[in-house]
Amino acid sequence: MERRKKVEKESAGLRKEEIHIGIAADHGGFELKERLAAALRLAGYDITDFGARALVTGDDYPDFVIPLSRAVAKGEVTRGLAICGSGVGACVAANKIPGIRAALITDPFSAHQGVEDDDMNVMCLGGRVTGYSLSLELVLTFLNASFKGEERFKRRLGKLAALEKDK
Ligand code: RB5
Repeated sequence: MERRKKVEKESAGLRKEEIHIGIAADHGGFELKERLAAALRLAGYDITDFGARALVTGDDYPDFVIPLSRAVAKGEVTRGLAICGSGVGACVAANKIPGIRAALITDPFSAHQGVEDDDMNVMCLGGRVTGYSLSLELVLTFLNASFKGEERFKRRLGKLAALEKDK
């Protein structure tokens, strides 16, 4: 299937005008970031690229992931995509920012349940681990999912939010 049609078909449940995606990657995730951003832009999504702007071997994921995470926490972007080589460093960095609920995702179930139950707002990917096609599927699944807002989910998130207030 031609790429644009594939993206639109898989994201049919999402109102694109309601979502502003932020994306960031170090050198380990740079190529995947470029490909995902191009596919999502082609499909009509609003995307802000927090860098890296070029492939620079030895650059540091916090330099890109922290500004992205701050923007998500402030509501300047709706959802974040943070990519490094394994996705681990990006995830650790993103979760340092209060209000961020980031997870390293490698399977479609977690890509939607992480939002539905845990209100995940930054999805992390490993550019050296997850190939482009699966990554795109994971991203679209993440973007299409919504927090269910059930009392037990809110209660659990409240316990986490309380920790941030204690800091
Ligand atoms: C960079 O070489 C690599 O360590 C980084 O992209 C990431 O995988 C860290 O978690």
